Amino acid sequence: MCGIAVDGNKKTTTEDDGKIVLIKKKGKVKALDEELYKKDCMDLEVELDTHFGIAHTRWATHGEPSALNSHPQRSDKNNEFVVIHNGIITNYKELKKYLNSKGYEFESETDTEVIPKLIKYVYDNRERDDMSFSTLVERVIQQLEGAFALVFKSHYFPGEAVATRRGSPLLIGVRSKYELSAEHIPIQYNSAPYYSFLRDCAVIPVFTERQGAAEPVGLLKEGVQDKNSHNRPDKPDKSTAVNSAGDGKAVEYYFASDASAIIEHTNKVIYLEDDDIAAVVGGKLSLHRVNSLAGEDSVRAIQTLQMELQEIMKGNFEAFMQKEIFEQPESVFNTMRGRICFHTNKVILGGLKDHLKEIKRCRRLIMIGCGTSFHAAVATRQILEELTELPVMVELASDFLDRNTPVFRDDVCFYISQSGETADTLMALRYCKDRGALTVGVTNTVGSSISRDTDCGVHINAGPEIGVASTKAYTSQFVALIMFGLMMSEDRISLQPRRLEIINGLKILPDMIKNVLTLDNKIKSIADELYQQKSLLVMGRGFNYATCLEGALKIKEITYMHSEGILAGELKHGPLALIDKHMPVIMIIMKDACYTKCQNALQQVTARSGRPIILCCQDDQEMSENAYKTIELPHTVDCLQGILSVIPLQLLSFHLAVLRGYDVDCPRNLAKSVTVE
Ligand code: F6R
Repeated sequence: MCGIAVDGNKKTTTEDDGKIVLIKKKGKVKALDEELYKKDCMDLEVELDTHFGIAHTRWATHGEPSALNSHPQRSDKNNEFVVIHNGIITNYKELKKYLNSKGYEFESETDTEVIPKLIKYVYDNRERDDMSFSTLVERVIQQLEGAFALVFKSHYFPGEAVATRRGSPLLIGVRSKYELSAEHIPIQYNSAPYYSFLRDCAVIPVFTERQGAAEPVGLLKEGVQDKNSHNRPDKPDKSTAVNSAGDGKAVEYYFASDASAIIEHTNKVIYLEDDDIAAVVGGKLSLHRVNSLAGEDSVRAIQTLQMELQEIMKGNFEAFMQKEIFEQPESVFNTMRGRICFHTNKVILGGLKDHLKEIKRCRRLIMIGCGTSFHAAVATRQILEELTELPVMVELASDFLDRNTPVFRDDVCFYISQSGETADTLMALRYCKDRGALTVGVTNTVGSSISRDTDCGVHINAGPEIGVASTKAYTSQFVALIMFGLMMSEDRISLQPRRLEIINGLKILPDMIKNVLTLDNKIKSIADELYQQKSLLVMGRGFNYATCLEGALKIKEITYMHSEGILAGELKHGPLALIDKHMPVIMIIMKDACYTKCQNALQQVTARSGRPIILCCQDDQEMSENAYKTIELPHTVDCLQGILSVIPLQLLSFHLAVLRGYDVDCPRNLAKSVTVE
């Protein structure tokens, strides 16, 4: 679902000039694009001569996918206020009830719709005519609970936009043809607290008159200067805005939840913090906060992104996912770049080195993530236990929270996340921080919430990942976690031969990945055979169990086939019942400590007329004799083998999805960053 709102001028009459034009579609952005440009908005009878607007693509959380449930959501039929929202409003039912009681009618099933209605309510009941747009927004967010990144537009404030966030990511891209006059944007503070009109279900007349029992002691009237803080003037102070060099077009601003959305326009960004309010008025940007907290930054820096435009272009590939699979020799190399010295066998992760002593003293390591990022933890758990000699727990963030897992001050908790914004992982981070554990981020997104909120961390440097199905982030997370293990074991004499073996394995890993990628045609031919199947099992154990989980996840998320990752050791405890000559089974049988046990599993499968496709080491004669088909992989160190064994399954899922006619990069019902619980 997607939609756009821009200031529009009616072609035929002037009475509706300045009215916001809202166009929304149930389908993909292409449909919206067609409506906007191919029809040239003839049907709408408006001129879209403005380049000031807000747009949104959405994954349905409340209500079915439909134009009505798409964003922008609006305050009323005249589109007086429109809002786009990323996140979730948890108290929307209470707000809706209140607004219903005030006569506001709702048209969508979204949680978001309470926001434009609320701002209209605040506007209609404002105590001063000259109240600024950002003050209205400030008042609205005081009533909201949950997570949100919001951008507002209003018919009453043409050419203005106000954005804010709490718990969901939001950044501002700044493009200027001139040198920016400020590298840091100062924040203006307003000390006046506003009173909630919904809290405790008490209906308190706020924003109009602050009097009577509802008024808290010491409440400041808006505009009254608190001695200890700066009072924000309603109109942005020119001296604190980014200079637009006078012509109003010299600086362009882009609000986005992700840097890859704006990188084609600018690499200069400001990351907003929770409760920051950013307003663009008259081509100038200003930042506000209600209150300054002790120790808080009073400026927001303009940062320069290292991301290149070509990194987010598909090039000659059919899909981003395919491009990202083929990028893995480089992305894995970039994860290691400058961090491993192959002469001295030293591994230095700059973001962790100052905390190494503390980490070594910890009671246990807890690895937390969701989906593919969780699988990276599963994949490296055994080698981390071996190299760190510490107990390692691997946790799905949602389950970890559901269990109220005991966490202690001497625990070290890792948050593994490509986006750095996954809501469950972020909540687990806050949970552990509250309990005093040391927190470590393993993310692919500089400036993301997880990378900012953790005590220390590792950037995996895989480059932007656009395809919804995670591929190169997984292999880079895998390598980053192994490097952490190597760093932890540097002074353990007994572990030196093992370390050396792994470091030598890492050195040639990018070439080995290239070698695996040459199997693409063979994998495509296997996909040709399998694509009409309903189900696909992936079986293995030991260091390759995570590959089974990850391969099955890739298959189900983009091909919509049922797929299950099965621990071969569990075969006799249930899954064996699924095996017959019709059920496609992929088995991962590499020459490691589990080889003999995997051979047993293979016999169980073939004895039941199963026809296994086996991922095995090159020249494994025995496997070739027992398999229906083999996919032969170069042999590497046992703990790195999972990086090679996952790639054929990434390729297989890609080809299956293409053959089944699905959009590989945008699988149904899924989003790249899951910023809602
Ligand atoms: C699967 C996939 C998801 C993500 C999960 C966590 O291909 O991409 O399972 O791995 O939503 O996302 P991040 O890593 O951004 O926290």
